[in-house]
Amino acid sequence: TTGAFTYDPGFTSTASCWSKLTYIDGDQGILLHRGYPIDQLAEQSSFMEVAYLLLNGELPGKAELETFTNTITRHTMLHEQLSTFYRGFRRDAHPMAIMCGVVGALSAFYHDSTDINDPQQRVIASHRLIAKMPTIAAMAYKYSVGQPFVYPDNTLSYTANFLKMTFSVPAEEYVPDPVIVDAMDKIFILHADHEQNASTSTVRLAGSSGANPFACIAAGIACLWGPAHGGANEAALNMLREIGTPDRIPEYIARAKNKDDPFRLMGFGHRVYKNFDPRAKVLSKAASDVLDRLGISDPVLDTARELEQIALKDQYFIDKKLYPNVDFYSGVILSAIGFPTTMFTVLFALARTVGWVAQWNEMISDPEQKIGRPRQLYTGPTQRDYVPVAQR
Ligand code: SDX
Repeated sequence: TTGAFTYDPGFTSTASCWSKLTYIDGDQGILLHRGYPIDQLAEQSSFMEVAYLLLNGELPGKAELETFTNTITRHTMLHEQLSTFYRGFRRDAHPMAIMCGVVGALSAFYHDSTDINDPQQRVIASHRLIAKMPTIAAMAYKYSVGQPFVYPDNTLSYTANFLKMTFSVPAEEYVPDPVIVDAMDKIFILHADHEQNASTSTVRLAGSSGANPFACIAAGIACLWGPAHGGANEAALNMLREIGTPDRIPEYIARAKNKDDPFRLMGFGHRVYKNFDPRAKVLSKAASDVLDRLGISDPVLDTARELEQIALKDQYFIDKKLYPNVDFYSGVILSAIGFPTTMFTVLFALARTVGWVAQWNEMISDPEQKIGRPRQLYTGPTQRDYVPVAQR
């Protein structure tokens, strides 16, 4: 029992690790970061506040937030030689392939923050990763569209700076739209951390071997890319666009229920949530707000809403407790902001870097921590003797 929470013995014996960062109740659809409900954080705080909260355990005071934000801001530039990495990729390289490569390469440039046994270096590495992900992500987008890289503008907020690096061009003045900055910051908050999901577990497992933090985050990015995980936001919008009009929804619902068809409703279902993903609720409302405030009407949003309504009344989805997850509506907003679907998972990785870094720090600073070593149930043949090839 820790305060308000009690765990059944069965849970503690199956838990893969202990953590103070994020609590999820899948049956109730509850998500707390250091005790604060995700909907309150999404509606009232900023991504920099949530980053500070996850890293330090408490919401920052005004001075603490200013100091933290200034520290992150001072790390936003990328070593100039790293820009040559981008030019080694084909123009049509998926931005996630570029992000995997560039983040993994950071350990070749920032040697003064790879010693995991030095608490100061761990802090510097954490700040560098959080600060540089927007720059790396924006450069991946710029490279894919053949536009020049735009350097960070440290007079702007974290999220406004990212939007300027992504969408501005040297030839024109760019003033980030406050509606878009607010929507982007909210999306970053909703993707910041989510307990021991596949990519976070990957980061922890890599970190438990003593690998440097840049390599661990690159491992997390690779895992997040999968369509069953972070890649689902890109797949969900592609699916909604393929469905096109609501009259075609029953065909896709039928496919999703057919065990012989590998098709799954992207953005639906979850390993833990057997109720609404609370992030999906916030994103569902934000999708309407953002499109209204931008004066955009996207028929995909109508299709998404209709699909949700039909699925939630379908016995298959009711029996299997399948609800929209964080990836179901996020793509509608990201598309309205102007991102291509290939950037959706990059944005997920940008935001989740805060959670990965916080989880990595929590693990690395635990003196009891040992190298991860999942065991298996062996189902292969019992011992037998070798037979030379002449006798086979
Ligand atoms: C994320 O872990 C995290 O926290 C992840 C994440 C985070 O923030 O880090 O929340 C982010 O990854 C969200 C999930 C994004 N993925 C998708 O939207 C892809 C579509 N969803 C499915 O692939 C699926 O729901 C999973 C992979 C997410 C979960 O798969 P499971 O573990 O099989 O889910 P389950 O055990 O609840 O499934 C119960 C049944 C199964 O059928 P049976 O074996 O009982 O016959 O429901 C079926 C599943 O096959 N099912 C679906 C379905 N999801 C599950 N059937 C149709 N459409 C779906 N989307």
